[in-house]
Amino acid sequence: MSANILDGKGTAEQIRAEIKEEVAKFVAETKIQPALAVVLVGEDPASQVYVRNKELACEKVGVKSLMYRLPQETPSEELLALIAKLNADNSVHGILVQLPLPKGIDEKKVLDAIDPQKDVDAFHPENVGLLSQGRPRFLPCTPYGIQRLLRRYEIETKGKRVVVVGRSDIVGKPMGLLFLQKGEGGDATVTICHSRTENLPEITRQADILVAAIGKAEFVKADMVKPGAVVVDVGMNRIAKETTDENGEKKLVNKLVGDVDFDAVKEVAGWITPVPGGVGPLTVTMLLLNALNAARLQTAAPK
Ligand code: GUN
Repeated sequence: MSANILDGKGTAEQIRAEIKEEVAKFVAETKIQPALAVVLVGEDPASQVYVRNKELACEKVGVKSLMYRLPQETPSEELLALIAKLNADNSVHGILVQLPLPKGIDEKKVLDAIDPQKDVDAFHPENVGLLSQGRPRFLPCTPYGIQRLLRRYEIETKGKRVVVVGRSDIVGKPMGLLFLQKGEGGDATVTICHSRTENLPEITRQADILVAAIGKAEFVKADMVKPGAVVVDVGMNRIAKETTDENGEKKLVNKLVGDVDFDAVKEVAGWITPVPGGVGPLTVTMLLLNALNAARLQTAAPK
């Protein structure tokens, strides 16, 4: 039997409609338009697409997007000076520096320089610390999107065995923390696996909810999944795949695939996210929500 699809695209559209209304309400009440500064350094093609998507998504919900495109060879000092300027600018509520940064720029130093109140990615150590203590200021966009997606489909996490494959600061680690939180969307028993994990399939087969965030095309195979499990695929990998065209000729096409071998795993899983149309649209959606929340935070009356 084939798994049910967790429709990230549709869920994202619904949430974006809600955010649009919330933004309009905020603007009417405060006369302030939430503004997000997006900084892209270099010409990485995938990053250019992601950043353009963020820009378009902002426009659609009424969040102002301020794009800063800097050349590949930008010195760290120049990037840090831009961040300092954006930190000091009261009309900018959120700051996102697109990763990865070119080699030679100290990523940690740059992320640490962002005002934690404007850190819509939730990558700043202060925001990571707040999340790990269960009192988050911002929730990291991809894990937050996954949590909302599971909630929309009323997938219970309480007491469930969650296995996250991948220990990145952007997805794996904060995903584990979110599932560990007390309350709705949390209360799970969490295992984070990585490239040094022994007997990985044995562990992934125990998962009621399996999150794949490894960055390896079609890494999760059917025999790594418990029958009926919920499988969430964070991967976005471009590969050359052989297909047969209408004349019966074989050719290689460039295809976007996830970290899960979708065609095989969907025959075992109970629920699965597709790629594209799964987690991706939710990440951008949660960024919009964080931008609105950053504006709310910065315009709230001081306590
Ligand atoms: N690069 C890939 N994913 C992300 C993300 O969520 N935030 C930023 N800033 N860069 C990324």
